[in-house]
Amino acid sequence: MKSIQIALDGPAAAGKSTIAKIVAEKLGYIYIDTGAMYRAITLKALNAGIDLASSERTGQLLRNTQIDLQPSEEGQLVFLDGKNVTEDIRSQAVTSAVSLIASHESVRERMVELQQQLASGRGVVMDGRDIGTHVLPNAELKVYMSATVEERARRRYEENTERGFDTPLADLQKEIAARDKMDSEREVSPLRQADDALYLDTTNLTIEQAAADILKLAEERLK
Ligand code: DC
Repeated sequence: MKSIQIALDGPAAAGKSTIAKIVAEKLGYIYIDTGAMYRAITLKALNAGIDLASSERTGQLLRNTQIDLQPSEEGQLVFLDGKNVTEDIRSQAVTSAVSLIASHESVRERMVELQQQLASGRGVVMDGRDIGTHVLPNAELKVYMSATVEERARRRYEENTERGFDTPLADLQKEIAARDKMDSEREVSPLRQADDALYLDTTNLTIEQAAADILKLAEERLK
């Protein structure tokens, strides 16, 4: 049976991972959360106490690191050198430092290689910032998803409240805006919509509506 590659890009908290998971499950594809991979190396760099601003040091650290993604009933599990770090990579410390680590060319080069290996020859839904532009330039379906900063902060706030974290909404809005700026202004593979990507504004869409839109597009490509 024919299978396709689906690239979902967009800024922080646009709903990419939730939607990617639904689409992957419906199509029986694997789901790859590339942000989780950048978060995992950030966690390791923080724990190792290395200079986060050094492209050389962080790139070297990544070369000696094993990152594995595994599907499970509760969603994707992330393993760093064999240890389950699924929860740890969502900490505030990691969230604040990840854009800096992701700006290093040495780190991005290796990550792109790893991500291309994971996606090779199979049906895949991959979400990130540079999937349509760099990781899977030949993906059959590319969608660039976004929503207003206010809406994205509101969604993150609800998610955090459900998890038992209490972060003020205004702080989340500031953090998301700062990450948007860093991710889109960095020199190497900045966040941008690929020329052949479709734009999906999810501000006024539910998760189910956005997932249904993407599934419809995928089914058209599968015909
Ligand atoms: O999707 P996320 O918030 O978990 O991503 C964490 C950070 O990783 C994000 O601020 C930018 C970076 N990232 C990236 O540069 N390229 C990707 N393909 C995925 C994430």
